[in-house]
Amino acid sequence: MTKTENQTNRAVFTTRLGAIATTVGSAVGLGNIWRFPYEAGTHGGGAFMLFYVVFIFLIGVPVLCSEFILGRSTRSNVFGALRKLAPAGKWHLVGYLGILSSLMILSFYSVIAGWTMEYCFQSAAGALDFASESEYHAHFDSFSSGNWRPVMWTVIFLLCNLLIVVRGVTKGIEKASNILTPLLFLMLLVFCVNSLMMPKAAEGLQFLFKPDFSKIDSGVILGALGQAFFTLSLGLGCMLTYGSYFNDRTRIGRSAMMTATLDTAVAILAGIIIFPAVFSFGMSPEAGPTLVFEVLPAIFHQLPGGVLWSAFFFFLLFLASLTSTISMSETNISFFVEECQMSRRKATFVSTSIVMFFGILCTLSFGCMSDVTIMGKTVFGLFDYATSNIFLPVGGFVFSIFVGWFLERRYLKTQMTNFGTVRFKPLPLLVFCLRYVCPVAILLVFLNSIGVI
Ligand code: PFF
Repeated sequence: MTKTENQTNRAVFTTRLGAIATTVGSAVGLGNIWRFPYEAGTHGGGAFMLFYVVFIFLIGVPVLCSEFILGRSTRSNVFGALRKLAPAGKWHLVGYLGILSSLMILSFYSVIAGWTMEYCFQSAAGALDFASESEYHAHFDSFSSGNWRPVMWTVIFLLCNLLIVVRGVTKGIEKASNILTPLLFLMLLVFCVNSLMMPKAAEGLQFLFKPDFSKIDSGVILGALGQAFFTLSLGLGCMLTYGSYFNDRTRIGRSAMMTATLDTAVAILAGIIIFPAVFSFGMSPEAGPTLVFEVLPAIFHQLPGGVLWSAFFFFLLFLASLTSTISMSETNISFFVEECQMSRRKATFVSTSIVMFFGILCTLSFGCMSDVTIMGKTVFGLFDYATSNIFLPVGGFVFSIFVGWFLERRYLKTQMTNFGTVRFKPLPLLVFCLRYVCPVAILLVFLNSIGVI
């Protein structure tokens, strides 16, 4: 991706591929390969999947457009964008929630990214060679519940993220990810074929794709909404910040649709890999956050050259996590730099220090702090639940109302048509979704989850 400075001294992506690759890089990550299978697994499979896909296209795509519009038209961070457009209003306060969410997500995300690094090394060293699935489970359990090794990886991961973000050298990593993300996709396709040949593949697919309507409850619906926001990096201003780097020729509608489609495809592929294996190995789909780390190594073990597959896959997953954490860091760093007048270096250190502290607490949630619970959840569980299921949808609710009701339709048209140079036919649909569908649906899901309806 190439960035150049525009008249306001802000970087902009110069190529269309740059804009798409970075937004897809942010969206595709652990959310697709780690979080989606475990959420689908604990929320009844097909029922979750149904709501998830509907939410992605009905709510996710319009909210994604709204973030791009806000970012590109103001060339600001989340906080500055809302203040520029509504100086007298209090809309910008939602920016604080966005910054808080990005710091909290970074904290627990780094734990999982650390796990991928450990498993990359363990695979390469041939240490993931067990005879039975229960041994994979026990092995992962003993690693993740340990105190120092997972903490070490969380810290190392955050330092990698810091080194990239502080120098603003995202160029290299993003160039690499232009090649590596398609490679990850290809690998997923290969693993998919392998999983489809497993003895209980049909059972796994049925679990994932056939909705069991008796399983639908408020938890399933809220979980699917949260996953839709998390996986598209929505509701905290991350896509808004990336939108602020779009050039005036980037087609917002197409970029949003393409990001959502590719991201969903990756999540579904991950599901097709995991669930046939879960059923064939006689494991439980409800294992929670540790699910894929127990299932994937057991799958790789069966493949010829499994050590290489495994090491390479976890390496790609590590890189996919980095492109996501870079985008989260960019959200709060652009805020610290532009709103608190910090240097980029200072902003990066402040952000990393906060995240490292909470990241360590999240890591220990699987170890010596597993008994420390707040509202029945560990620190990790609470951060994950509160951000995805509450903060991000609240952010999306505010963005959709602001863009749908507060901004003039002409303003949206200008952005969606690139100042009248291209056509954007579904404008009325977009406005309808932003005005009615998104806010009402988010509200209903919330009211449902607190038992009001
Ligand atoms: N969308 C990323 C994933 O699915 O892994 C996670 C994420 C990135 C969430 C950036 C939020 C964010 F701002």
